[in-house]
Amino acid sequence: MSKEIVVSGIRSTGHLHLGNYFGAIQNYVKMQDEYNCYFFVADYHALTTHPDPKELKTNVFRVLSENIASGLDPEKVALYAQSDVPEIPELYLMLNMIAYKGELEKVPTFKDKVRLQPENVNAGLLTYPVLMAADILIHKGAKVPVGKDQEQHLEMARNFAQRFNTRYGDYFPEPQVFRFNNDTVKIMSLDGTGKMSKSENINATIYLSDDDYTIRKKIAKAKTDAGPVEGQPMPDFIQNLFTLLSITGSPETAQPYINAYNGGSIRYGDMKKQLAEDVVSFVRPIRERSIELQKDEAALRKILKDGGEKARASASAVISGARKLIGISYY
Ligand code: AMP
Ligand code: TRP
Repeated sequence: MSKEIVVSGIRSTGHLHLGNYFGAIQNYVKMQDEYNCYFFVADYHALTTHPDPKELKTNVFRVLSENIASGLDPEKVALYAQSDVPEIPELYLMLNMIAYKGELEKVPTFKDKVRLQPENVNAGLLTYPVLMAADILIHKGAKVPVGKDQEQHLEMARNFAQRFNTRYGDYFPEPQVFRFNNDTVKIMSLDGTGKMSKSENINATIYLSDDDYTIRKKIAKAKTDAGPVEGQPMPDFIQNLFTLLSITGSPETAQPYINAYNGGSIRYGDMKKQLAEDVVSFVRPIRERSIELQKDEAALRKILKDGGEKARASASAVISGARKLIGISYY
């Protein structure tokens, strides 16, 4: 039986962080042996926020290195840049004809961007979910390992696939979000003001490139409270610290602190020291390996080139089928 097809992408908009690792990359690494995987750097998606061209290039190489340093094996998966697969923008164009302005305007991530960058509400931002659907459907992807924040986009990808199939004949699968044990991972920023993100709350986000000193400093400043209040649930920013403790250390390390919290005797200072050490030990090998990889740009270029070729082999077959169904095939 042929392996199921998995597709996922990470935008090259900045440094990867623990949210990216636990929400996405960790799943990629676990999937690489069992599935036919296509993982890519979403550099076209990054253009929606107008990055500096020099920075974009550095970011692409760093995202690539950080993925490999986290355990992705370019021999086992197709690891490539979105912009190396021209069939993606072609499918994007086709899907744009069956994507409607009204539904795109309602997408929460679009509304967020309108709020964050009112001076740059471009058409690429509006059609972001259409490009994402093209990324997945270009390989007939069935499973998509992404964090919770991408669920709405996946729903739209299913809608576009269904619409295409209804109009032109059954062709695309309806891609589903994939997570091991159905874990919905969302890592919050350490100041409790939202999710960890590549570009917001930089001082409250732990990056895979942060050095030991920076990690310790950020964790020492993490938001805490005065301890549990009778009858009130644990605040999400405290829960987040316990989550980090159990996933970067182990559930056994976290348990005594959770017990102390429940018993009203938690000492956040001690807990943060433990957390800092666990995060430092977790990030250090990834950071060091990534720095090594970034020194050899020729090797990274070769990885991208080989990955792009694997991706194009699959993409060109799928796009020619789509062209035929639409009626754009004259020769
Ligand atoms: P992005 O950084 O937005 O390009 O996201 C790349 C991947 O990381 C996507 O699968 C996201 O769902 C996931 N991700 C990003 N931020 C977080 C977070 N704070 N917690 C969990 N997953 C995240
Ligand atoms: N939109 C995703 C994010 O911001 C990145 C992405 C682009 C993606 N294309 C994709 C994820 C295709 C999965 C599949 O995180």
